[in-house]
Amino acid sequence: MTDHTLLDSQADALLRDEPDALANAANFVALLYNALDDVNWLGIYVLRGNDLVLGPFQGQPACVRIAIGSGVCGTAAATRETQRIPDVRAFPGHLVCDAASRSELVVPLIVDGSLVGVLDIDSPLLDRFSEDDQAGIEMLCGTYCRLQSGSEGSISLD
Ligand code: SME
Repeated sequence: MTDHTLLDSQADALLRDEPDALANAANFVALLYNALDDVNWLGIYVLRGNDLVLGPFQGQPACVRIAIGSGVCGTAAATRETQRIPDVRAFPGHLVCDAASRSELVVPLIVDGSLVGVLDIDSPLLDRFSEDDQAGIEMLCGTYCRLQSGSEGSISLD
């Protein structure tokens, strides 16, 4: 089981003193990917106009561009609500990037009140993400977004 509070402290320590937004996004993704069990893909899609565009990630090469409202990521962006999907094959419009993915958690990234992208986590296991996992990952994304506020070279162009 993941200790999200410990992971949150590690994320804070890793990102706090670095002002570059791209470097911090890359390190945030790498930290989480290596800390979480049973995850085959983890990355950030960055808001570019009306699309989400592939940003720093770990895993297999993935879909580059996702329209707002499309798939699990686009739904999280459109609603600004976390999408916790126990079986991606039961989600209408799910976009298949890695056929190994069976469940998915997507958290909107909101900096200073504006959507800047989403964090997408895929698992090869059905129903991998619990309510506790959702709360823990939302806490981590909150820390990431707070530290991104005012950083240099925002990962979002908008
Ligand atoms: N499955 C996502 C697309 C991104 S990949 O999983 C990396 C979706 O439906 O939005």
